[in-house]
Formats: sequence, structure tokens, C-alpha cells
Amino acid sequence: MKVVISLGGSLISLEKPEFIEELAGFIKRVSKNIDLYIVVGGGKTARGYINTARKFCKDEAYLDKLGIMATRLNALLLNSFFKRKIPCTIETASKMAPPVIMGGTTPGHSTDAVAAMLAKQVKADLLIIATNVDGIYDKDPKKYRDAKKLDKIKIEDLKKIVGRKWRAGENVVVDSIACRIIGKEKIKTVVLNGSNLQELENAIYGKKFNGTIVIT
Ligand code: UTP
Repeated sequence: MKVVISLGGSLISLEKPEFIEELAGFIKRVSKNIDLYIVVGGGKTARGYINTARKFCKDEAYLDKLGIMATRLNALLLNSFFKRKIPCTIETASKMAPPVIMGGTTPGHSTDAVAAMLAKQVKADLLIIATNVDGIYDKDPKKYRDAKKLDKIKIEDLKKIVGRKWRAGENVVVDSIACRIIGKEKIKTVVLNGSNLQELENAIYGKKFNGTIVIT
């Protein structure tokens, strides 16, 4: 069974090295039964660099490149437990023996889209968007107290929530390019809080989990 995980950069925090260690242990254990592909996001580091550079650079593709470097830096950090090659393209990643750990590829999208492209390429059985919220809400749970978590959402409705515009460092729960690929390729996708490794494991093994199922 092949599982691609888009691991939100917010989960890789320099202030929480114990979580990175737990995550590496999790990857090692689960990899005994499952082919894992982990695409790591850039989180705070990416946004910090992009926001600073945006003050004097209006070139979105250049800003994206800063973000990509941050995703690769986070990937390298997690990879320090594995010391494997970090692929820079979907093609290279798809030819490697799992577990595969990588960051971003090219400008114009986030690591969610990279994970969706990789899921398409390796014909993954499941794509997991592991973020820092419990799933998809009807409105931003960080802004609205009455936001409700959805157990399921149709891909068309998710597309409406995330919009279409791209901007470097964009922070939406699943990026619009990823949504397009998930919908077109009918990739089985779930969104959950990646800081809870038990929920991540439940989703991988098809057990009941706390999160949102995307209906394609
Ligand atoms: P992320 O994938 O981390 O974006 O890439 P994000 O939406 O901030 O996700 P989280 O919070 O980590 O989960 C950071 C930035 O790097 C650039 C984009 O500008 C993105 O916003 N990037 C990343 C690319 O241009 N291409 C890629 O393949 C990956």
C-alpha cells in the first residue's frame, strides 16, 4: 500500500525537537508495512523569508523559490534520521525506494500540490494532508469561534473554500492546484491534524480517525 503525506511545515518546529524524533520513529515503524512518501512544508521559516523578501521583491516566482528552500531545509531536518537522498522532482521521487522524504519542487504551488502530483505519479492508495488543524472547517477556525469541523466535504465545495489565486506563502488548508489534481485524478484524500500521530496511523490503516474525508 502506498501513502503520500503532505506534512505541514508548522508541524516541524525547531522548538519541538521531540516531535520530530517521534515522527521519525513513526515513519520507520509504519514503513515496515506501508510505502510512505512524505512531502514536508516550509511553515514559519518559509513565511518569514517570503514576507521579508516581499518588502523589496515583487517577483512571486522568486518568493516561491525562497519558500521551496525552506521546505527542503525542513525535509533535511526530518531526513537527519534517515540520511537519504532528497529528490527535487516528482519523477525522481517516484523512482526512489520508499520511505521518500522531500520538500517542494517548482514555483507556483505549495507542498500540498507536490504531494497530490506525487500521489498521482505513484498511484497512491491514499493522500493525507497533515496540517495543524483537526480537518476542514466551514470557515477559518482560527478566526471564527463558531466554525464547524466537517467530517466529509465534496471536492467541489473544497475548491470554493480555497479559491483559485496563487501567492507565495499562501496559507490555505489545501492549495487550489492540489484540489484540482485530487478532483481530476479522484485521489482518495483525507485532512487531519498531523501533530496527533495516533490519528495519522488510524487514517493510514483505514481505521476511524478525527479529520475530514474529501469526496471526489
Ligand atoms: P508550503 O508547502 O510549506 O506552503 O510551502 P504552505 O501553504 O505555507 O504550507 P504549510 O503551512 O507549510 O503547511 C511554502 C512556500 O514555498 C513555495 C510557496 O511559495 C509556498 O507558499 N513553494 C513550495 C513552491 O513555490 N513550490 C513548491 O513546490 C513548494
